Amino acid sequence: MKKISVIGTGYVGLIQAVGLAEFGFNVVGIDIDETKVKALNRGECPLYEEGLEELLKKHVNKNLTFTTSYESIKGSDVIFLCVGTPQDKDGDADLRFLFSAVEKIKETIDKDDYKVIVIKSTVPVGTNRKVKELLSGYNVDVVSNPEFLREGIAVYDFFNPERIVLGFENLENKKPIEIMNKVYNYFKEKNVPFIITNWETAELIKYASNAFLATKISFINELAKLSDIVNADIKTVSYAMGLDDRIGNKFLNAGIGYAGSCFPKDVKALIKQFENNNIEPILIRSTDKVNEEQIKWFFEKIKNYYKNLNGKVFAILGLAFKPNTDDLRESRAIKLIDLLLGSGAIVKGFDYVAKARENTINMYKLDKSKGFYGYNLYVLDDLYEAVKDADGIIITTEYNYNKEDWEKIRNLVKEKVIFDGRNILDVEKVKKLGFKYYGVGR
Ligand code: UDX
Repeated sequence: MKKISVIGTGYVGLIQAVGLAEFGFNVVGIDIDETKVKALNRGECPLYEEGLEELLKKHVNKNLTFTTSYESIKGSDVIFLCVGTPQDKDGDADLRFLFSAVEKIKETIDKDDYKVIVIKSTVPVGTNRKVKELLSGYNVDVVSNPEFLREGIAVYDFFNPERIVLGFENLENKKPIEIMNKVYNYFKEKNVPFIITNWETAELIKYASNAFLATKISFINELAKLSDIVNADIKTVSYAMGLDDRIGNKFLNAGIGYAGSCFPKDVKALIKQFENNNIEPILIRSTDKVNEEQIKWFFEKIKNYYKNLNGKVFAILGLAFKPNTDDLRESRAIKLIDLLLGSGAIVKGFDYVAKARENTINMYKLDKSKGFYGYNLYVLDDLYEAVKDADGIIITTEYNYNKEDWEKIRNLVKEKVIFDGRNILDVEKVKKLGFKYYGVGR
């Protein structure tokens, strides 16, 4: 294998490029963003992901380089497409970046020069077929290879996948299968299950997996609302359910809903695919609806406690969509902050990781400069500063806040009340300290 090109050096592409370099391949990462490309070539990682910068530094300018030019794909046997497929205004996956990358590939490669083009971007069922059509007349095979990386532990996930899914046009054609086996030989040797199937099945596996996990979360979140009223404890319900290994305990933690760059977008895109095929997605639409409602339900809980939120000061613990990332996309904390600010409250936000990165906090500043948030939102670098003089503490991200000094926190707050949106706190402990505690379904 001469060289592998990876188009798109966002979250998925960068990890793919760095991972393939660690396997020993010569890798070129291609991105249209010149500033990013320059930074990557200096070994600077544009996003926070454990272990990523170390690996980048280890390989950059050795067997890994970055460029804005597509020329490098000429000498590559395998080309990974890892561009973003964001949500468009109708909830569909926006495939503009993908198709424009395909156009650039067409402009660059020789028609007769054989290439394997691997689509790693999350794409609706039918997209691999469309890409192959766009490349008709070219000597290429198109392979669907969805990713299952979790943010925060994506580097670990890359090297320790639970399955490798590969979709092909024609399973009789062994050439692209053999090439992909070589690319992923590391996983073969580790006995990772390989799912070799057709394009459409591979594409659907990705959506099915994400929508199922999202449904598990929405299921337990819906039950939590009942649990809240009838004096049941949802944490014990989840635990007991999870002991049945047909159910399993993962993704059964009730809270204020799922977020991030994948679940909300993929669930909505799957709904669209049903609609496009004239089928009503009864269950999956409900998954989405429960999630949208959950944060409003939690906000109502807070509102009912205070009656009037005007001028109340809240410490929001957790800004990113989940722990160990600075990613704010679809973050429930942000949705809640919007609702609080809209009711005249003052918000002091804190996050262990998101605070450290200017690019994430800048998302706030952007909105602030539009005047939307006025001056009522503050992002603090210190948890104790955030809780100081607060009328209430709201936990929005599932970090282990139990390790903080709750006696100190008690002495700093104005009113001893906690709304725990992730059911993470040791209830007995904080109650003993005199806090009123409101969780989700407990
Ligand atoms: C997810 C999938 O896990 C991954 O396989 C896919 O490739 C991309 O989408 P990620 O977006 O990184 O990964 O987040 P994940 O760790 O799965 O959590 C998603 C959201 O669900 C978070 O907002 C989290 O707070 C929430 N969640 C998770 C719950 O509310 N309850 C749970 O029990 C688990």
